[in-house]
Amino acid sequence: MTEKSFVMLKPDAVSRRLIGKIISRFEEKGLKIVAIKLLQITEDLAKNHYGEHEGKPFFNDLVGYIISAPSLAMVIEGDDAISVIRKIVGATNPKEAYLGTIRGDYAMDTGRNIIHASDAPKSAEREIDLFFNQDEICNYEVPDNSWIYESTL
Ligand code: RTP
Ligand code: MG
Repeated sequence: MTEKSFVMLKPDAVSRRLIGKIISRFEEKGLKIVAIKLLQITEDLAKNHYGEHEGKPFFNDLVGYIISAPSLAMVIEGDDAISVIRKIVGATNPKEAYLGTIRGDYAMDTGRNIIHASDAPKSAEREIDLFFNQDEICNYEVPDNSWIYESTL
C-alpha cells in the first residue's frame, strides 16, 4: 500500500554536509520525496515531536540535540514506505546498526544518530501534520514508476 513517512535529517547530518548522500539512498531505492524543508526546530516543536519520550532520562539531551542546528524535514512516499524507510535507516544505536544502513554507515552514538523516521502509520500522520501544511505536500507522478513497481500504484 502507498504510504507517506516523515523523515528528518537531524542537525548532525545537516552540519556534517551529508544531506545529498542520505537523500540519494531514498531516491535510488525508488522512493519519492513529496515535501522537503530545511528548518531550525524550536524547543516546543522538538518536545512535541518526541513527546512519547517525555520523562525518559535522555529526553532533555535529545531536545537539546534536535534544536542545536538546522534539520531537514521530508515527507517520503512509496509502497510500504514506513517500514522500508526504517530498514534503510537502521537500528537506533548506530554501533548496532547493520553496515549498509544510514546509521550503520554514518554514525557512532545513539545521541548522534543523524536521522529520524516514523515508526508506524499513526505516528507518520501526526509527524507530517506537525511539520508540514497540506499545501506543502506535492502530488506528482514519476516517469519510471513502472520500472520500480510491477503493478503500477
Ligand atoms: P527516531 O524516533 O529519532 O527515528 O529514533 P528511533 O525511533 O530509532 O528511536 P526512539 O526510541 O524513538 O528514540 C528517539 C531518539 O532519542 C535518542 N535516544 N537516546 N540515550 C538513549 O538511551 C537514547 N535513546 C534514544 C536517539 O536520538 C533516538 O533516535
Ligand atoms: Mg522513534
